[in-house]
Amino acid sequence: MTDMLHRRVAKSIAVTALVALAATGCAREAAAPGTTKDGGVVHVVCGATEDWCAATTKKFTETSGLKADFVRLSSGEALARIKAGKGNAEFDVWYGGPADGFSAANEGGFLEPYVSPNAAKIPAKYKDANGAWTGVYVGALGFCSNTKLLQEKGMEVPKSWADLLNPKLAKDIGIAHPSTSGTAYTALWTQVQLAGGSEDKALDYMRKLHPNVLQYTKSGAAPAQMTARGEVAVGVIFSHDCIATKEAGFPGLEVSFPSEGTGYETGGVALIQGAKNPVSGKKFVDWALTKEAQEVGPTAKAYQFPTNPDAKVSDKVVDLAGITMVDYDAVAAGKAKIALTKRFDAEVAQAPKS
Ligand code: G6P
Repeated sequence: MTDMLHRRVAKSIAVTALVALAATGCAREAAAPGTTKDGGVVHVVCGATEDWCAATTKKFTETSGLKADFVRLSSGEALARIKAGKGNAEFDVWYGGPADGFSAANEGGFLEPYVSPNAAKIPAKYKDANGAWTGVYVGALGFCSNTKLLQEKGMEVPKSWADLLNPKLAKDIGIAHPSTSGTAYTALWTQVQLAGGSEDKALDYMRKLHPNVLQYTKSGAAPAQMTARGEVAVGVIFSHDCIATKEAGFPGLEVSFPSEGTGYETGGVALIQGAKNPVSGKKFVDWALTKEAQEVGPTAKAYQFPTNPDAKVSDKVVDLAGITMVDYDAVAAGKAKIALTKRFDAEVAQAPKS
């Protein structure tokens, strides 16, 4: 081949390559609006109760025509799985569980900020200003008592955090572990607030409570079952989990609230950083903020307060205005979460194994 021919062939290959490249580019450009790479499915890591997660994903599919599946994980476990999936996201959306966990995930860069148009309806106190997470429900922490067991001990239902330290309740309290459970972390952060921001004093309280704790469970709602079955006299759980268990056939349970003040959760929803189905994931987030989505809870015995003011509030939902609450800042709680739970592991009790 002559030099000239060489150059011509080379030029024609280069032109063909350029044309091909441009064509692919054009094809990509053309496909972009509305058809970003997305499998038409949403993989949800779900921190609400199993029944609510199932009812919610089912309703979403019925409404949107998009497939949705979920894995139920407690808050600390969800955070660990999302972290492990960085760079190869296993989930598209995180739905349910206290915003503390979402805020901790946001600190680590594991969430994809998304301000849903439907977030405009949600009061500012229940969402992150930059759209890292948006609140879908609110629930107050409380005490769940087995009244028969307490009567046998000659005790009333506890009415304060101080009451839980009574030696008559030795090994008679059920609470989850804050490293795995968002419920238990809410209880721990509540102590920080009650102690004027002192993590040392909060851990002091937890150390004093320790002899009365029969078992630290992985999931936050598990002590409701323990209390219902009479394994412990009192469970420290979200009040709505006690109400749901009572309704499921344990009328002897009674909810009470601590007079010093209790903590509360804002259950969140967020898009996960690097989600493989971001278009469907955003649709899920949009839908989770609607009145329709927020009315699913009570159909699955989940009696949290909806954050969408248009959603009907079940008469089983606790009147939050009637309870003394601590000033609970989920962002501050989230920032402190990793270090504080490590201290709990080292200074109070190790996290439960698998
Ligand atoms: C239950 C409650 C939810 C709460 C969740 C936290 O499912 O109904 O309101 O968000 O527990 O779960 P965890 O296992 O992390 O404490």
